[in-house]
Amino acid sequence: MPRPLAGIEKFPRIRLGHAPTPLDRAPNLGASLGIDLWVKRDDCTGLALGGNKVRQLEFYLGDARARGADTVLITGAVQSNFVRLAAAGARQLGMDIHIQLEERVDDADDLYRTSGNVLLDRLLGATLHPFPVGEDEAAADASLEDLARSVTAGGGKPYVIHLGADHPPIGGLGYVVAANEWMEQARARGFGFDAVVCASGSALTHAGTLIGMRAIGEETPVYGVCVRRDASLQHARVVKRAAELAAMIDRPALFDVDGVDVSDEVYLPGYGKLNDAVREAVSMAARCEALLLDPVYTGKAMAGLIAHVRSGRIAAGNRVLFIHTGGLPGIFAYAAKLEPWLSNEGGR
Ligand SMILES: Cc1ncc(COP(=O)(O)O)c(C=O)c1O
Repeated sequence: MPRPLAGIEKFPRIRLGHAPTPLDRAPNLGASLGIDLWVKRDDCTGLALGGNKVRQLEFYLGDARARGADTVLITGAVQSNFVRLAAAGARQLGMDIHIQLEERVDDADDLYRTSGNVLLDRLLGATLHPFPVGEDEAAADASLEDLARSVTAGGGKPYVIHLGADHPPIGGLGYVVAANEWMEQARARGFGFDAVVCASGSALTHAGTLIGMRAIGEETPVYGVCVRRDASLQHARVVKRAAELAAMIDRPALFDVDGVDVSDEVYLPGYGKLNDAVREAVSMAARCEALLLDPVYTGKAMAGLIAHVRSGRIAAGNRVLFIHTGGLPGIFAYAAKLEPWLSNEGGR
């Protein structure tokens, strides 16, 4: 069992997931890239098809319950994994759940709108609220606050999980804890890592990982791969969130701006959009390792890892930890977009 971390205990937490998740070696994919690749299987966190957001929700919903809330409100893209897992966590705790679905991709097809996470949101009985804008976090949060007011007016006790970075990064605590978990697993095998790679979206996984590693004395580089915005915007966001997390656990000195590394070389054409690097990464992981990656988050993160290896930023022979953050329902929502590529030369 991982040691309890100083500074974390004061935050209410509810266990929702299976932990520790496995730390698996990926020998075939690693060999084809020329590195010693390990995967932290946070796609196996258990709750309703799993993913990184389970760890984040343990702290959000812990806070919600400590405040006496009975209804959770959250906003996200139509194929958001976070909102699906918020619905699952809320249901486990006997809470009501409202989800605001933002129009964030401009080429959504029928599968995108009906399959994958949306299907699961509906199965979980969430109340869905369409929201026409996908690039305005303040407006999305304001609309969520309006919904929360109507919950209050109806006699409920709402808890809002905000999207914007102007609210405390509570979910990031989940990855401060997780870093301790995978380092205990690695140390039990007698090794450490030369690099850690993860998707960087809201930045809470990335910032939590960074502060979690530093909190246990690990100076390993943490490479965040942009999945939501370009590198300059994302860098500022990770800096803010990491500094806040270090302060939240009363260890502000853990934050060092020089340790924040984000890259956006596989980001375009933008959030939720495929490119050849992502298709290659999704395919290589599946065919070398039976490791299933999604097109929006983990596929992009693996494409970023591959780009770092090919550019030499991650050196040949390095022992690298890839954090598999889940997102598996997204594979089905993107089936039509993956299909043409699967059927042609590139998919073989
Ligand atoms: C599957 C998956 N991986 C990675 C991320 C990015 O994590 P974060 O938002 O903590 O940066 C998300 C965000 O929604 C996700 O759903």
